Amino acid sequence: MSFSKKTVPWEDHVRWFGNILNDVNTILYMADLLGETEGVGYVRFDKVQSECSEISIALNPLYRSRKLGQPVLAEAIEKFFAETGKDRCSARVLEINKASVSIFEKVGFVKKRGSRRTIEYELAKTDLQAQGVL
Ligand SMILES: CC(C)(COP(=O)(O)OP(=O)(O)OC[C@H]1O[C@@H](n2cnc3c(N)ncnc32)[C@H](O)[C@@H]1OP(=O)(O)O)[C@@H](O)C(=O)NCCC(=O)NCCS
Repeated sequence: MSFSKKTVPWEDHVRWFGNILNDVNTILYMADLLGETEGVGYVRFDKVQSECSEISIALNPLYRSRKLGQPVLAEAIEKFFAETGKDRCSARVLEINKASVSIFEKVGFVKKRGSRRTIEYELAKTDLQAQGVL
């Protein structure tokens, strides 16, 4: 996840996006809504080669606070587990980011550690199977 709120120059963003697409350690899923022209958002998995990949999500501001975060997150994780054969992922969430905390917990992430401002979550494929999601 990114904790920075600084505006990123367009050229830097294009370079960053190109690097992401070529990085074997990163998988990026884009979410769209049928009939809508604007993209809804993305879910990104980092450290894909490691045992426990790290996930982050961001929705287009147009689609935030409309209860789309949880289904987008759940569908991306389902796809990630199916496509990679992995069975665990983690997330780091700012404690003050209530919307983010809410969607990760609703999807079934379990709190592993917490520092003063960040919560570290983990999710195992078996947790989703137990909930009937997979
Ligand atoms: C975090 C994010 C993915 C959540 O998805 P969302 O679709 O906007 O969230 P929802 O509409 O489902 O809201 C989830 C909960 O947060 C609450 N909420 C929504 N927006 C909120 C806000 N601005 N402030 C406080 N609570 C908020 C909702 O009422 C809901 O509460 P509930 O679970 O008790 O019903 C999305 O807001 C986003 O992209 N934010 C910017 C990027 C980010 O912070 N990513 C997370 C870092 S990994």
